[in-house]
Amino acid sequence: MTDRAAAIQGDDTLTDADRLGLYRVLLSRRDVRGQFLPDPIPDEVLARILVAAHHAPSVGFMQPWSFILVRSPEVRGRIKDAFAKANDEAAGMFEGDAQATYRSLKLEGILESPVNICVTCDRDRVGPVVLGRTHIPTMDLYSTVCAVENLWLAARAEGLGLGWVSIISEPALKEILGLPERVVPVAYLCLGKVSHFFAQPELETRGWRKRLPLADLVSLDRWEGPRDETLGVALAKAQEKAEGGDLA
Ligand SMILES: Cc1cc2nc3c(=O)[nH]c(=O)nc-3n(C[C@H](O)[C@H](O)[C@H](O)COP(=O)(O)O)c2cc1C
Repeated sequence: MTDRAAAIQGDDTLTDADRLGLYRVLLSRRDVRGQFLPDPIPDEVLARILVAAHHAPSVGFMQPWSFILVRSPEVRGRIKDAFAKANDEAAGMFEGDAQATYRSLKLEGILESPVNICVTCDRDRVGPVVLGRTHIPTMDLYSTVCAVENLWLAARAEGLGLGWVSIISEPALKEILGLPERVVPVAYLCLGKVSHFFAQPELETRGWRKRLPLADLVSLDRWEGPRDETLGVALAKAQEKAEGGDLA
């Protein structure tokens, strides 16, 4: 083994400020659709964000992701048209008041943000047999989602907003971006400077859904198994503190 391969992290202890900074990013990350500013993103900033995405964990260290930066107004126009078609179909799937609320929501910032990024998963990047993907074939897709989350958090740390647009037919997206059959468009993202970040998810403030109590989602040893009551109290307290802005 070379020295480099054997090296350990010499500065592996995070300061309190580092720890709190990470939680601040995690808890203040928002899905942004309507607050984009047109200012370009400096290449150095975009590069840092993409490096963060590229350092995500991946099954068998497969790194199945690629990043297509969509700047062309013509391509973005086609994506926006594909969104509008899918969004209209989606609205029709909800009834009554929910449909009216759905139609009033802004669910993308495709043209307002300065750059869109499609994060893809090449399911054949390292051949058919992948360490760790041998029994659950979707692990490469999950790895790509890890890259998306890294990208999202790095963007927030840089003060940039990001919105995930999933209301597009997958074949349409693949056709517009020229993706080969084996490549899956995992996430279509809008990235840019923003006028402000909302404190809460917009779907929450608009009355679509509330954040669930975490303690209801944690069980012991099996699906919906028994609860650890003491942990439940700690979870409820930590959730209340975090959502009240207290990260300590
Ligand atoms: C896989 C995925 C797909 C999403 N698709 C959309 C979308 O098409 N349009 C949209 O406005 N938000 C989309 N979102 C954002 C969610 O609505 C948002 O994450 C959620 O309401 C919580 O809000 P927050 O991200 O601001 O905390 C998506 C999020 C994820 C993880």
